[in-house]
Amino acid sequence: MARIIGCVTTSHVPAIGKAMAASQQEAPYWKPFFDGFPPIRDWLARERPDAVVVIYNDHGLNFFLDKMPTFAIGAAERYVNADEGWGIPTLAPFAGEQDLSWQLIEHLIGADFDLTTCQEMQVDHAFTLPMKLLWPDGDAPPAVPLCINTVQFPLPSARRVWALGRAVGEAVRAWDSDKRVVVLGTGGLSHQLDGRRAGFINKDFDQRFMRSLVDEPDWATRYSIHELVELSGTQGVELLMWLAARAALGDGARLVHQHYHIPISNTAAGAMALAAA
Ligand code: DHB
Ligand code: FE
Repeated sequence: MARIIGCVTTSHVPAIGKAMAASQQEAPYWKPFFDGFPPIRDWLARERPDAVVVIYNDHGLNFFLDKMPTFAIGAAERYVNADEGWGIPTLAPFAGEQDLSWQLIEHLIGADFDLTTCQEMQVDHAFTLPMKLLWPDGDAPPAVPLCINTVQFPLPSARRVWALGRAVGEAVRAWDSDKRVVVLGTGGLSHQLDGRRAGFINKDFDQRFMRSLVDEPDWATRYSIHELVELSGTQGVELLMWLAARAALGDGARLVHQHYHIPISNTAAGAMALAAA
């Protein structure tokens, strides 16, 4: 049966893409951010996952406000990146892991999660930038994109997202394959791009949340969506993706590396790698 080796969680600020394209990783503004990633890349190089499930939120590229699935999953042969208005260079298409897509679809729908199944799917910065940060040479393993709506209310509760993540873990472990799977969760940490609180960052909350993924992983499920927005910002609620990725590991997990830097753009940038027990 397939194995989950662990999860990696990262922020996905579009400016990271421009910095990578301009080779600014060593520039004073960027170095403290990019320095968070070599230990995570080293761990991935040692663990050599064969497939990656990328849990992220689409920002209007693939789904717009007129059609907004709460949960959507790709089952495509490849995933094309397109310009989404941030001026980030587009990347080459990403290979899909279609067997795993269908395993997840069958299992998750069988477990009463109402997924939208997408046999064609574009992927935005929330998918592409973490993939490029983790596999800068373009050698990322074949992927399954899994989207959670954090863009248009109503959003799924943290409790529901936790349950989805648990079911993703069960689905992978029930996959009749000897492949090794890593789960990515992209978004957050605290940020708010609009309204009176634009620029809002909550370091104390972010650090408590990151710690919880190690020692009390369902801690954030105590909060309602409105409480999470209050604590982390209207876009900080993207941390739901971290929660789902961590839930997929099951009970125990070992911290491999964690990093936190503020701000990148308007956003608290965090990254964690956790190995499954
Ligand atoms: C920024 C952060 C995001 O999560 C995003 O999707 C877009 C922009 C930012 O901080 O600029
Ligand atoms: Fe975002």
